[in-house]
Amino acid sequence: MTSPAQRPVDTARPVVLLTRRLPDAVEARASRDYAAILNPADETLSGAAIAERAAGAGADAVLCCAGDRLDAAAIAALPAGVKVLATFSVGTDHIDLEAARARGLTVTNTPDVLTDATADIALLLILGAARRASEGERMIRADAWTGWTPTQLMGTHLGGKRLGIIGMGRIGQAVAQRARAFGMTIHYSNRKRLPADLEQGAAYHADPEAMLAVCDVLSLHFPATAETRHWLNAERIARLPRGAILVNTARGSVVEDEAVIAALRSGQLAAAGLDVFENEPKLHPGYRDLPNSFLLPHLGSATVETRCAMGFRALDNIDAVLAGREAPDRVM
Ligand code: DGY
Repeated sequence: MTSPAQRPVDTARPVVLLTRRLPDAVEARASRDYAAILNPADETLSGAAIAERAAGAGADAVLCCAGDRLDAAAIAALPAGVKVLATFSVGTDHIDLEAARARGLTVTNTPDVLTDATADIALLLILGAARRASEGERMIRADAWTGWTPTQLMGTHLGGKRLGIIGMGRIGQAVAQRARAFGMTIHYSNRKRLPADLEQGAAYHADPEAMLAVCDVLSLHFPATAETRHWLNAERIARLPRGAILVNTARGSVVEDEAVIAALRSGQLAAAGLDVFENEPKLHPGYRDLPNSFLLPHLGSATVETRCAMGFRALDNIDAVLAGREAPDRVM
């Protein structure tokens, strides 16, 4: 059997390195079309290890994932033959794009296909946080439920509440569409105001900070960059109505954990539904002890259908670049 770090015997076909185990159908297509280097044990590889594997295999393309730390050093260490870095994610914050640009690497992502799954998880978080699902579930598992009472685990009703969305791209719009079905009114802030047919009556706020005062529920949908790091800090949380609910399906680094935890303790935030964390998987331990945090392990896109679609989309991009065509989802 070929060691994963060596170029396979079948050199007639381009070599594609998959950094993680991917759904069977995606691996089957990769292996059908390429000399695919898989990661059957699904080891977490450092950026240096990815570069080393790519060099050992003589990779022409790398299909990487959110969580792979492809910093400048890792990108510099990639072998010269690598033409494309196709990430199995919409987010690209794990890749040093400037370093990739300097190397002349094409970087692609997987937009669109995870919109619905991520919006569904945002609604799950809104509902779970508002209706104290985590506390209820833990009560039952701990065999601590003594029976129905009129005042037990009373949460927040969503109908008539104001949902503030920061970042009204595809996912933000899909969240708005779902939240309307729960009777929520939509406010949003975005770099550009949406046309009326997409806005669908939502109130636009050019300044996200100024919108905070009207957010009974705040849902974050903007990318993690150096500028957005810790955007939601203590000062901005204080602008929310007391007892607001925070939901984050974007990236953990856009909130300041200490400030969110302090607000969950003080009641400034009634609850938080979080699917993403700074320094995943080592999230701030303070979240675990809070009764009013509803926590998921980055499940936004985790449906079979979506993960297969993401893999196929990443392979479509690799196919295009290796065939000398423009990648459909070129980020840079
Ligand atoms: C993404 O695509 O960026 C997600 O966070 C991973 O599903």
